[in-house]
Amino acid sequence: MVKPTTPTTNKWWQSGIIYQIYPLTFADGNGDGTGDLRGIIQRLDYLNDGNPNSETCLGIDAIWLSPINKSPMVDNGYDISDYLDICPVFGTLADFEELLTEAHRRGIKVILDLVVSHTSNQHPWFQASKSSRNNDKADWYLWQDPQPNGQFPNNWLSYFGGTGWTYCAEREQYYFHTFNENQPDLNWQNPAVRQAIHDVIRFWLDKGVDGFRLDASSVYSKDPDFRDNPMKYGSSDKNAYNNQHHLYDKNLPENHQIIQEFRQVIEEYDDRALIGETFIDSRLYDSTIFYGNKNNELHLPFGFEFPFSPWHPGYLQREIEKKELITPAWAWPTQFLDNHDIPRHLSRWIECSLCSHPVSIAKAAAALLLTLRGTPFLYYGQELGMVDNMDIPADRLQDRAVVATETGELPPPRDGARTPMQWDDLPHAGFSFGANVTPWLPVHKNYTEVNVKAELAAPDSILNFYRQLIRVRQGSDALKWGSWKTLVVYPHEQLAYLRETATETVLVLINFAYEKPLKDLIDLELDWQRWTVLLSTRFEAGHVVDLPDNLVPFEVSILNKV
Ligand code: GLC
Repeated sequence: MVKPTTPTTNKWWQSGIIYQIYPLTFADGNGDGTGDLRGIIQRLDYLNDGNPNSETCLGIDAIWLSPINKSPMVDNGYDISDYLDICPVFGTLADFEELLTEAHRRGIKVILDLVVSHTSNQHPWFQASKSSRNNDKADWYLWQDPQPNGQFPNNWLSYFGGTGWTYCAEREQYYFHTFNENQPDLNWQNPAVRQAIHDVIRFWLDKGVDGFRLDASSVYSKDPDFRDNPMKYGSSDKNAYNNQHHLYDKNLPENHQIIQEFRQVIEEYDDRALIGETFIDSRLYDSTIFYGNKNNELHLPFGFEFPFSPWHPGYLQREIEKKELITPAWAWPTQFLDNHDIPRHLSRWIECSLCSHPVSIAKAAAALLLTLRGTPFLYYGQELGMVDNMDIPADRLQDRAVVATETGELPPPRDGARTPMQWDDLPHAGFSFGANVTPWLPVHKNYTEVNVKAELAAPDSILNFYRQLIRVRQGSDALKWGSWKTLVVYPHEQLAYLRETATETVLVLINFAYEKPLKDLIDLELDWQRWTVLLSTRFEAGHVVDLPDNLVPFEVSILNKV
């Protein structure tokens, strides 16, 4: 099935490449060991210096900042105590305004994380709410009486482990939290809560931010009757959260209404984007439900197909084909490999394939991400081939929000994928200039080789491959807007697909393993002659070639029909 080749609207969030920054570890501008806004400003030229022929910048179009609002940092910013201010750890509102101006000056859009399924328990709204049962914020959170036997109000659990209910002596009631007990869930049935959050959205849009990534965007809605979740019959997952059907504590029909209202606020402004972490059980639902049935919810819902897929072209192709089939023609796909909650893809995929070719896997993965239909998201450091730091001493871990499960098991902390960006081979990998500081998380020991400076100087590095790939994508209407069609009916170790508009045909060949005759692979009469090499691990870019007889191991070739 071939989709229409050009969407009716050509938006920046469709053609652009979005780069996620984890501000705590991207760049430390004041030398205190923790990343900050000033550090990001200093590194903007690396992301995009505004020069299309730049020899040094990556060339992305937008940054998404993980939360920078005021926070006690129990969940490293995903617990906000003031939506209208910047956390002092990161700087000031004036620093943010400067970041916005400097980013826009280079053509970089800025997207903020909007964490509104819950606040911090230090937020003044919660402080007021918990003080009594009859204050003006009394109904802003999810309060329930204990059961007559003193037990929790129902069986709802926290995603981070243990019960979702925490007792508050002042009110002699429990409040509910999907995540940590320091992150109480807002009551989205209360119109005053909706209004307050809409005002927060307008505050940042008025400042000029270009969009939001909605955090945990499926858990706004809860059952008004607080019914127990049904148990999954016979399920004995170590994480008790997975043993329930989450019928009543997430993703209720009303959730759509809440996101539709966000979209209406966004549309009061020109050209802003609404992105969302969908946070659903992807075995039951698909992230496409978040577009809304009238194109009135998220512009870009994250689907976790690649993060949950093994490194095998068969699985990956199945996910791509599924997305092609179920994404409505008016909607726009979203593609990503990594974020701050999951192990980095090279760590996931090298380990599972026991492969000794990390650079080849990194290039193949990059080619996949940046040649599919839809908006690609990069996670900082992925363009260098950064892998998880598995050697963080227990007393240096920063992911404190997760708690032990009933069985005493601790979910693995997410710190491994959040270590400092590797800029050069100076102390702290150039992340911090502070001589005697301890970086927020330990730098990965491979930083002397895996870093921006070294990779810019090495023509065949992963970073230079990403840089070239980004330019190839930006220069090709077929790669930005074209249809996607597989040429491989039954993938073994290769992917081969076309991206096409009426006037341009791009062929993408990605070999995941051994040498393979191309004619065995492609079940279609292609004109074999005269392709211009856009980018290849085998052929020189710009040369005109005939299709080769064989794909060499780990070959990536992106070719344009002459
Ligand atoms: C989202 C964030 C994650 C955070 C959680 C609670 O899943 O991505 O980092 O811990 O929400 O806010």
